[in-house]
Amino acid sequence: MNFNEALQNLENGSLRSASFIDGQWKANANVKQSILEAFKAGVLKEENGFVDKDTLMPQKFNVDRGVRIVPGGTSVRRGSYIAKGVIIMPPSYINVGVYIDEGTMVDSHVLVGSCAQIGKRVHLSTAVQIGGVLEPVGASPVVIEDDCFIGAGAVIVEGIVVKSKAVIAPGVILSKGIPVYDLVNQRMLEKGEPIPSGAIVVPGNRPVNVQNKWGTDLGLTMQCAIIVKYRDEKSETSLILEDFLR
Ligand SMILES: CC(C)(COP(=O)(O)OP(=O)(O)OC[C@H]1O[C@@H](n2cnc3c(N)ncnc32)[C@H](O)[C@@H]1OP(=O)(O)O)[C@@H](O)C(=O)NCCC(=O)NCCS
Repeated sequence: MNFNEALQNLENGSLRSASFIDGQWKANANVKQSILEAFKAGVLKEENGFVDKDTLMPQKFNVDRGVRIVPGGTSVRRGSYIAKGVIIMPPSYINVGVYIDEGTMVDSHVLVGSCAQIGKRVHLSTAVQIGGVLEPVGASPVVIEDDCFIGAGAVIVEGIVVKSKAVIAPGVILSKGIPVYDLVNQRMLEKGEPIPSGAIVVPGNRPVNVQNKWGTDLGLTMQCAIIVKYRDEKSETSLILEDFLR
């Protein structure tokens, strides 16, 4: 498959840079390779005062696509799929290889990094940063499954998977190095283990390694994330946000 074909199919949603196979998300290395080839083959081009590789210039939208892109600085790069019913508030940046499914809300100042997979009816609140994972081609991208709520300013990087209906509170950072403690089941998630379905994750702190007396004497703490509960009726009420705006 040449890169033009790959970008076109990524854009119409028939091809994805990651797929859910045998119970887990896996990168499609050949698709990601095609994206890298598009970078390599491209030459710089100017359009409306902006410059990018000519193979990856921003997409243009019209009413027929059924996507609402509010004016004010948003850019959706070539080779990303935006389903019908998605709303994108300005300014936001959607990078190549991204998949955003139906009914998702992308609020202001959101970055959806390369190859990230965002499910149906997800809410990406203002200033959410979803990291891009392009290289190495075998590395899985960040995945946010259906009906998740990602609170303002949350940062999710390094191929973290957030299972359906999970709630990530404002300001939480999720990366492979940040431990996640499940208060409900009283266990620590394995490194890279997906955030469980329906989990409500809030920002936390933990003491530095007890072996480090200097650090403990100073009372230093390090960042972690904590599952305080699993979604219930009370959470649903606190998450009803934008039906009127749609
Ligand atoms: C995360 C959230 C959904 C939890 O709502 P909830 O299910 O009603 O949860 P509760 O209020 O029962 O809180 C459960 C526990 O988590 C704690 N908690 C809740 N949100 C927290 C947060 N952001 N940071 C730290 N702790 C938090 C509560 O203090 C409570 O602790 P306790 O059991 O020790 O008393 C809600 O706090 C929230 O952040 N809603 C989204 C608001 C928002 O971002 N709106 C703007 C969108 S643009």
